[in-house]
Amino acid sequence: MRLRPVVPASIHSRVPLFDPTPALLMKPGDSDPVQSLNDARLAAMGIVRWKTRRSVVDADTSVELAASNEPSISHRPASSESHQTATADDSMHPSIQEDTQSEDITSDEVITPETLEIIESEVSVCQKCTLASGRIHTVFGSGNPKAQWMIIGEAPGAAEDAQGKPFVGRAGQLLTAMIESLDMSRDAVYIANVLKCRPPNNRDPLGDEVASCSPYLVRQIRLIRPAIILALGRFAAQALLQTQQPISRLRGSVHRYGEFDTPLVVSYHPAYLLRSPLEKRKAWEDLKLARRIMSDVVE
Ligand code: URA
Repeated sequence: MRLRPVVPASIHSRVPLFDPTPALLMKPGDSDPVQSLNDARLAAMGIVRWKTRRSVVDADTSVELAASNEPSISHRPASSESHQTATADDSMHPSIQEDTQSEDITSDEVITPETLEIIESEVSVCQKCTLASGRIHTVFGSGNPKAQWMIIGEAPGAAEDAQGKPFVGRAGQLLTAMIESLDMSRDAVYIANVLKCRPPNNRDPLGDEVASCSPYLVRQIRLIRPAIILALGRFAAQALLQTQQPISRLRGSVHRYGEFDTPLVVSYHPAYLLRSPLEKRKAWEDLKLARRIMSDVVE
């Protein structure tokens, strides 16, 4: 049985799957309000509508790119859109003219649903910040893509960088034990980090690194659509909740994340628990809080 947090009907109704708007008669070159509305709805569902270069050049409209349609991590990510507009140079490019001649207008568009594989392949070649130059591997995330529980840490460490998997070092062993203490297997949950590349010497992530990397996590969360998020450590909690409050204030209550108001619980990072084992009692309280929320969510 797939568990979902109880979400008010109004939230779902913001993105109807069926568009009741009647088709409009369009003249060539008109911008299509129905299409724009549909594009916005598809974007809200994480679906990128690719347009051929022909339609971009002909209509001088915008192309929506997955990478430019990403809200930053926030408590309720704002739906922002940015556009890349075809330039005069584009329209004169010979390869575009060839495409134009060979394309069938009925195959003008292909809807490409967002997938974790697509995001992962973007991450694997990402050069958006300076961490790219020092990495061995990107660390995208691992686990069940349909997980109820999504666990989010800070950034890869040395072991993760070497293996390309999150939480595989000593902190990861403790995390596995924490998950199993909830009678779950590690494979049942999905684990990711705010940053996908290791900061040098495991230093704290910098603001520009978070700004560059967080859109990938936002897209992951949107696709996995977990019933609960467990944020591990001050850094992940502050980044996800867009706050500077200390972890002592963030622990012990249920926060809400994103457009689906996903319950979010904050706990200590396992690396901190390895250094301060007496705090494990509090971490266990956090896990029990999260488990209680999950039992409330059961249909
Ligand atoms: N610490 C994290 O925050 N994430 C990892 O993947 C490993 C250590």
